[in-house]
Amino acid sequence: MSGNSKCSFQIIAFQDLRRMVIMFSKLACPQSLALLRRSVHSSVSSATSIATKKTVQGPPSSEYIFEREAKYGAHNYHPLPVALEKGKGVYVWDVEGKKYFDFLSAYSAVNQGHCHPKIVAALKSQCDKLTLTSRAFYNDVLGEYEEYITKIFKYNKVLPMNTGVEAGETACKLARKWAYTVKGIPKYKAKIIFAAGNFWGRTLSAISSSTDPSSYDGFGPFMPGFEVIPYNDLPALERALQDPNVAAFMVEPIQGEAGVIVPDKGYLTGVRDLCTKHNVLFIADEIQTGLARTGKMLAVDHEHVRPDIVLLGKALSGGVYPVSAVLCDDEIMLSIKPGEHGSTYGGNPLACRVAMAALEVIEEEELVANAEVMGNLLRNELMKTPSDIVTCVRGKGLLNAVVIRETKDYNAWKVCLRLRDNGLLAKPTHGDIIRLAPPLVIKEDEIRECIDIIHKTMLSF
Ligand SMILES: Cc1ncc(COP(=O)(O)O)c(C=O)c1O
Repeated sequence: MSGNSKCSFQIIAFQDLRRMVIMFSKLACPQSLALLRRSVHSSVSSATSIATKKTVQGPPSSEYIFEREAKYGAHNYHPLPVALEKGKGVYVWDVEGKKYFDFLSAYSAVNQGHCHPKIVAALKSQCDKLTLTSRAFYNDVLGEYEEYITKIFKYNKVLPMNTGVEAGETACKLARKWAYTVKGIPKYKAKIIFAAGNFWGRTLSAISSSTDPSSYDGFGPFMPGFEVIPYNDLPALERALQDPNVAAFMVEPIQGEAGVIVPDKGYLTGVRDLCTKHNVLFIADEIQTGLARTGKMLAVDHEHVRPDIVLLGKALSGGVYPVSAVLCDDEIMLSIKPGEHGSTYGGNPLACRVAMAALEVIEEEELVANAEVMGNLLRNELMKTPSDIVTCVRGKGLLNAVVIRETKDYNAWKVCLRLRDNGLLAKPTHGDIIRLAPPLVIKEDEIRECIDIIHKTMLSF
């Protein structure tokens, strides 16, 4: 009797395992599948543990990686089908060992190139010493970083955060506090103006100022006190600033996510003048454009203007760790008092060391100058692409975009797939626009090779 029941348990277990094999066969990479099949002859629990361990058996294929993410991850992204496992400088490698030029640079976070040795070394050495104290206590690196970054950008103070969107949130909070405590706007009447096409992240505040339905639709109700005016439109700004309750105008000096929209010459100067005239804070979101990306340390430097608040993120860590920063002078920064704002990780010693190393690399490797020279070369060559394929080439420094003339069988996504096949990774932004933004360490022979790949690809359809 007991022998029979043991036997029937084994049969059930065997059938369950067969079902598991079938279930996992779509997902499992070949090596792990072999292990899972072998496990049919052992117990259910050991089969399950092998199935769990399968992720660390041998290198998984790209297909396996795509399917596993689709199965277990939220579907809030639509990545180009390429599965990367290694990066060095301007190059990344996929799990099959194919090498690519990275022309996205993690949305300008990897300005210094992938896995920059100096930044990685800073991370490693601080990791062994002290990583996080929270701001409940002092740490021996934060002050050094604060002094360093404020001297570089010539602001009295910095408020350290982690992601870009947190820097944006911080700026909005600072602007509101300043409005009530310094400007004298009646409590809770402060307004912040944004430009249409802006992108500053995914929180409820950030999407409340968005004009892109894929960002905001279905996520209301939205943050009050935000108003949107057209980008690159000084008369519209002037009209908006007639309202005495406006605290700030937050704007990207070049709109990155909107498709590298470069405003007219004089726009930033006009913004500065209007904000000064109406006692409104000019907040420059330099999270994508800053840190040498456009051929200047800050994109506002193209017009020699000084915003009241500057937001930095992304390349502030060279892509190894989330680090963001809000820079401004005392009159604004000191309107927030202890306990009124913060972040567990903001200003941690690891982030501070990484940020200092990332900033040093920009200076030591003269990335500002390189971005300008390589950017000019890239745009000049791209402009030679026939206009029936590329209708527009725009950008500054190494933040560039081409607009593709879409046809029935030719669009930006298909171009990016073929660029990938030809060894260069780029991503469409807003339908027909492809952003071209390699790491700023790219050299002339490399950018010429990339230009050849792009031309060859465009002409291959
Ligand atoms: C201009 C700008 N601001 C803010 C952000 C948000 O940064 P994060 O994704 O780190 O929150 C982005 C991200 O793309 C950005 O481009």
